[in-house]
Amino acid sequence: MRAVVQQRYGPPSVLRTTEVDLPLPGPGDVLVKVGAASVHLGDYFVMTGKPYVLRLVFGLRRPRHGIPGRDFAGVVAAVGKHVTAVRPGDEVFGWSTAGTLAEYACVPADHVAPVPVGTSLVEAAAVPTSALTALQAMRDVAKVGPGQTVLITGASGGVGSFAVQIAKALGAEVTGVCSSRNVDLVRSLGADHVVDYTRTDFTRAESRYDVILDNVEAQPLAAVRRALTPAGTLIPNSGRGGRWLGPLARIVRARVLSGFTRQHLKPFASVEKPRDLLTLADLLTTGQVTPVIDRICPLDEAADALRYVEAGHTRGKVVVTI
Ligand SMILES: NC(=O)c1ccc[n+]([C@@H]2O[C@H](COP(=O)([O-])OP(=O)(O)OC[C@H]3O[C@@H](n4cnc5c(N)ncnc54)[C@H](OP(=O)(O)O)[C@@H]3O)[C@@H](O)[C@H]2O)c1
Repeated sequence: MRAVVQQRYGPPSVLRTTEVDLPLPGPGDVLVKVGAASVHLGDYFVMTGKPYVLRLVFGLRRPRHGIPGRDFAGVVAAVGKHVTAVRPGDEVFGWSTAGTLAEYACVPADHVAPVPVGTSLVEAAAVPTSALTALQAMRDVAKVGPGQTVLITGASGGVGSFAVQIAKALGAEVTGVCSSRNVDLVRSLGADHVVDYTRTDFTRAESRYDVILDNVEAQPLAAVRRALTPAGTLIPNSGRGGRWLGPLARIVRARVLSGFTRQHLKPFASVEKPRDLLTLADLLTTGQVTPVIDRICPLDEAADALRYVEAGHTRGKVVVTI
């Protein structure tokens, strides 16, 4: 099969499109013919092996699985003998730890969910990691509910565009922070208010919010906390940071600071829970969540897709079709 492969950690130029062996599904696995795979900043970090702490999980000297990508949607080609939930021919979406920028991906059966009727493979592929992060941030970490005021920075990005829609679905009054070119997009996602950061600094304005999801961390923690109510919840969610530990140092600082203030500072890492994939499928079915697709690229342009997401100006999601 054709696949994007990397023999070593490095920038997008380490990626090659080549022929590799077809993966074989184990008894609990599903072999999926991948139709589309979305890429995000986490894929870029894994490709480069930076921050270095990631190498403890993904391989010390070189990436353990030479195929990048995690999120996908496609058609079931074969199933292992213990799999009963899906059958060949079913359209599914989900995560694979063995790489998705390839014609086929092997996935544990509980890491896939049916693609909802009316959702395309490109749209479904855009969902898994970014929407899961938005769901867990809003519902589980901040416990957003009706009547709460929620501010989301990077509201036009992969996580932010889902977070705006999910916070609205949970009944909150939502403010999205984005650049001028994305104001109409963020309003169309359902945001009640939009702050254009090129004109207004929300940390210096009068409004206070019960919850802030900070996907960009363009301002220091202390400035963002000024925009939080006295017992509000702040989720610092930028994955960037130093080359050794990435955001870990900031996460620890926020946790320590939490002990000295009534405000709740809650950095978190999303966890791939099969049940949440089904919740996301329901949100797609009911139309409460619609993925925003920025670009669709062919497999040969996967390196460009990763360069683009690393630049940090994505509007919604970047999807590679196979
Ligand atoms: N906690 C977790 O488990 C988890 C999981 C996934 C991702 N993340 C992290 O979540 C963060 C967001 O990821 P993403 O995929 O959504 O990134 P993204 O798609 O690159 O989105 C970033 C968005 O922010 C906008 N932006 C840039 N500067 C801004 C500013 N000062 N104020 C407001 N918006 C601004 C960008 O558009 P313009 O430049 O046009 O304004 C872009 O639309 C990343 O740091 C990622 O590592 C965390």
